[in-house]
Amino acid sequence: MTLVINKITAHIGARVSGVDVSEALDAETVNQLRQALNQHKALVFDAPELDSAGQERFAANFGDLTTAHPTVPGQNRANVLEVDAENGKANEWHTDVTFVVNPPAISTLRSIVIPSYGGETLIASSAAAYRSLPEQLRRWADSLWAIHTNIYDYVKVRSDKEEQYRTVFQSTQYETRHPVVRVHPETGEKGLFIGSFVKQIEGLSKTESKDVLRLFQAYVTKPEHILRWSWQPGQLLVFDNRITQHYAIDNYDDQPRKLSRVTVAGDIPVSVNGERSEALLGDASHYSPLESANAA
Ligand SMILES: [Fe+2]
Repeated sequence: MTLVINKITAHIGARVSGVDVSEALDAETVNQLRQALNQHKALVFDAPELDSAGQERFAANFGDLTTAHPTVPGQNRANVLEVDAENGKANEWHTDVTFVVNPPAISTLRSIVIPSYGGETLIASSAAAYRSLPEQLRRWADSLWAIHTNIYDYVKVRSDKEEQYRTVFQSTQYETRHPVVRVHPETGEKGLFIGSFVKQIEGLSKTESKDVLRLFQAYVTKPEHILRWSWQPGQLLVFDNRITQHYAIDNYDDQPRKLSRVTVAGDIPVSVNGERSEALLGDASHYSPLESANAA
């Protein structure tokens, strides 16, 4: 079979066919997929045969796996996070797990139960966002650092189940200092590295911080920078968590929506000046060992 890669939009997203992701892949195919991911940031596969074990095996082609989550245990398998609307809806722009010092490099999402309407996932290229900044703003962003945390300062829970999930999610407090502009470790591309886990920009007041984040975030969420993926069950979406943000649209009423997530361990982000992120609070070594992440 020959790998076929078709772009979905100019800045982000490609559909991949000609490969069965539920089978073991050879090194050449993995290399081609890695290159495609570097270029397109998000890849979509039809994967009707894929199960949790297969999703883990597929993701492991790209590096060591993280466990399900720093605080939320995997329900059935240690490396699989159940993404279930019953536990809450991720309708906030974010990059996965940026509150730890080495957030996942790659996230994979497999669709299991999809509502009859809505439930799309948006994925934005933070590289396209960075490139579209006016030069003065780009230079300013290059110099900024932000504090990311898993502790939300707002409460927006709809049910007891959601409340319980939130309690587990926040059971250990994490805080990490990341550059607002991150250099991609494989491509050297620069991207805005912010999203909803950001608590504050260093050196600014809370109010200033909010306004500045809103300004930068507007470039991330520009429609031209976004892939809007409308799911069918049995698909696999793979995105580069180092240079994207995503958002699960809450537009499907109370219908069930279930996906499973497996993530590949990432390195410690590096700023445009070569300075690395630092953990301020919380130990995430059980989630994503630093030694393996640095080698990946
Ligand atoms: Fe997410």
